[in-house]
Amino acid sequence: MAKRRTVHSCQSCGAQHAKWHGRCPDCGQWDSLVEEKYEAPSAAKAAGSGRGAEGLAALVPASDDGKPRRLSEIDADASPRVPSGEGELDRVLGGGFVPGSVVLLGGDPGIGKSTLALQVAGGLAAEGHSVLYVSGEESAEQIRLRAERLPGVGGSLQVMTSTSVESLATPWKELSPSFVVVDSIQTIQTDSIESSAGSVAQVRESAAQLSATAKKVGSVLLLIGHVTKDGSLAGPRVLEHLVDVVLTFEGDRAHAFRLLRATKNRFGSTQEIGVLSMAAHGLEAVENPSELFLEERSTRAPGSCVIPMLEGSRPMLVELQALVAPAPYGTPRRTTLGLEDARVALLLAVLDRRSRIDLLSQDVYAKAAGGVRVAEPAADLGIALAIASSRLDRAVPPDTAAVGEIGLGGEVRRVSRLDVRLAEAGRLGFKRLLVPAVCHREHMEQIKQNGGGSKTGKRARSLCELVPIEEVAQAVDWLEANGIAGGG
Ligand code: TYD
Ligand code: MG
Repeated sequence: MAKRRTVHSCQSCGAQHAKWHGRCPDCGQWDSLVEEKYEAPSAAKAAGSGRGAEGLAALVPASDDGKPRRLSEIDADASPRVPSGEGELDRVLGGGFVPGSVVLLGGDPGIGKSTLALQVAGGLAAEGHSVLYVSGEESAEQIRLRAERLPGVGGSLQVMTSTSVESLATPWKELSPSFVVVDSIQTIQTDSIESSAGSVAQVRESAAQLSATAKKVGSVLLLIGHVTKDGSLAGPRVLEHLVDVVLTFEGDRAHAFRLLRATKNRFGSTQEIGVLSMAAHGLEAVENPSELFLEERSTRAPGSCVIPMLEGSRPMLVELQALVAPAPYGTPRRTTLGLEDARVALLLAVLDRRSRIDLLSQDVYAKAAGGVRVAEPAADLGIALAIASSRLDRAVPPDTAAVGEIGLGGEVRRVSRLDVRLAEAGRLGFKRLLVPAVCHREHMEQIKQNGGGSKTGKRARSLCELVPIEEVAQAVDWLEANGIAGGG
């Protein structure tokens, strides 16, 4: 006999509580508990979240007998990775999908999750894989219309519109697909519990059943998930424990470029990022993000500085912009876009105290161009230079970039992987890179140790000269001496 109880689930972290609280005792979120009916057919199921996944999985036969095997007898090559056909996605996954793995793709609405999923599913279908695309959000006709815009979507792709987990049992059994897409996990629900679709209990239970089935059959399962306003995956963090790979798709909807990163990856690094751009015919890989970001740069205007930032292990040149203007009202305004408010406020204080630049009665606007989000401390020197450049009305020379973290004392601190950043700057025609003095010393020592310089070191140096900077005031002096006077 099924036992019924009500629980109060936090819609933010997924924690369940017997009583209602105004604030979730687990994650501290206010007003996030929602009463849900929790129907548990057995005590065992009620006890373990995510373990009650018999439902769908029970209906689909397994690909092996489930007996224990010796580690040495397990053949890892028996199920090689399946390349997704989308190079940037493969880079993030670590070389392709691992059979039987569950991948969660999260991102803001309209960012291109469904497009990416359909493009990949369609491409795999065209290569002869058996692929099932389940959508609870769009009608079959809408999917067809979208597919017509995308290149290389195979006609053999099996499309199904459904919001019920149980309805997948038959197609899963009959097609035994190697790739299954569920768009989205928030719209699909299982009959095993009574909560409405999108609630934490539903999302968790549905995902558990789908993932158990995928593991049993050896299908790759791609779940699409919505994100909440604050950018975390909607509903439960438990979902992140349940899946093998969590991918987030981010970017500014007003811009074409998109970043794909793995926040969790059981089979690869989380350091790799993929850069794509949304075009009229679906998503395209961006091989040279730096070129994309610097395309529209106005090289002579004061208030701009290029930084070689590092996303994971990938260098990217990004333009930072600042506009400083006298504040017409008492309290000056500080507005940022793509940069952290706190970081900019801190740099303003440091510039004000540790250099000759006075910013107290100035409005400051700062942004990263192209819809990029820059969170790296190594961007500090670039932000400071962009602000100083606008204040002094002297443009940073167009062939100069800067990198370095700035401390509260005004000291310029070490950054990681200078070699990679230097090479990228050199590759894009930059002749000068302002760097922390410590990094400069280390770089020179390394060159000396290599007996006058390794091939790559020599090449990097011949491409791009390093200017050591000890203090932020020194960077401002450098700008005054070498900057190009603006017109305003
Ligand atoms: P979509 O994949 O529906 O977003 P999500 O599933 O993350 O909500 O993306 C829709 C957006 O992408 C929409 O604004 C239109 C745009 N788009 C293109 O620019 N080119 C295309 O080829 C396609 C299919 C969509
Ligand atoms: Mg969608």
